[in-house]
Amino acid sequence: MRIYFAPMEGITDAIFRQAYQACFGGVDKYFMPFVSPSPSLSYTGREEYDIAPEQNRGLHAVPQILARDAVCFLGAAGDFREMGYTEVNLNLGCPSGTVTGKGKGAAMLRDVVELQRFLDQVYANVSMPVSIKTRIGFDDPGEWERLLPVFARYPVHELILHPRTRQELYRGMPHREAVSAALNYLKCPVIYNGDLFTARDVTELQREFPGLSGVMLGRGLLANPALFREMNGGPALETEDMARFHDYLFRAYMKRWRPVTVVGRMHIFLKYFAHCLDVPGKLLRDALKENKQEEYLEAAGRLFRQARLKEDPRYTQPS
Ligand SMILES: Cc1cc2nc3c(=O)[nH]c(=O)nc-3n(C[C@H](O)[C@H](O)[C@H](O)COP(=O)(O)O)c2cc1C
Repeated sequence: MRIYFAPMEGITDAIFRQAYQACFGGVDKYFMPFVSPSPSLSYTGREEYDIAPEQNRGLHAVPQILARDAVCFLGAAGDFREMGYTEVNLNLGCPSGTVTGKGKGAAMLRDVVELQRFLDQVYANVSMPVSIKTRIGFDDPGEWERLLPVFARYPVHELILHPRTRQELYRGMPHREAVSAALNYLKCPVIYNGDLFTARDVTELQREFPGLSGVMLGRGLLANPALFREMNGGPALETEDMARFHDYLFRAYMKRWRPVTVVGRMHIFLKYFAHCLDVPGKLLRDALKENKQEEYLEAAGRLFRQARLKEDPRYTQPS
């Protein structure tokens, strides 16, 4: 069973990936947050930094491309191959309105004829393995029946399946029957993604779907960064692990970003960590209020000193 770190735009960047690898590791692949290439194949400064091979040294990192135009996709894939990457991932799952509004991400699942045209061009011309991260449809889970034969036509390196539609975003239960259908229909390796928040969730999934080749975890792993270690039979999360990881991340970002930007990013991490912590609400609010480096570090330090792990530490979906 392979274990992958989900791409999370604005969170799992190169600095985060290296920090995670140094503090926990154990991940088979890190999927990078999407790069959306312009027709001239120019990348933003952040994208360039994030994708640079020297920032991903020692990791198995996979670049992800968000594009509706096959020429753009192929151009970016060519750039990544030149940099030394050996796989690229196609994003067919992003549900965000700004992305789908441009016909990209999950919007590409709407029109199977167009999708097929795009994939024909990509798979006929690409010079390295292409994996796909997808949802099961745009409006309705029934669309999966029409999408499966499309994916079955191509040498998909791995299909990473988030079994919800675009309209469902991250709400409601993932459609387990779509996983069975994929395993029955497709010959390529299928990787499951969605709502795996504890080692038990993963064991149960494996029992239900022994044909899965792996799992990809996102929010569950941000809330409990020791989850992979625990799944591999290692020690469960301790508050000290989290505090150490927090400090490592802080120092790593400070080498590159302005303090105010670093503190903003740390607030995001702290909100995820808080899912697993029993901590007086005031301590969390205090840390999230501080924008200055010294004051923030003091408030975060107070929080970690007083925090206890919850009995069942896990990410909890907002209702
Ligand atoms: C803040 C955020 C950013 C995300 N960015 C990306 C992205 O760049 N590419 C992608 O394929 N999925 C992205 N996702 C989706 C995740 O990779 C993953 O599919 C989703 O969180 C469900 O998995 P989980 O239940 O394990 O968190 C993002 C999700 C979140 C919450």
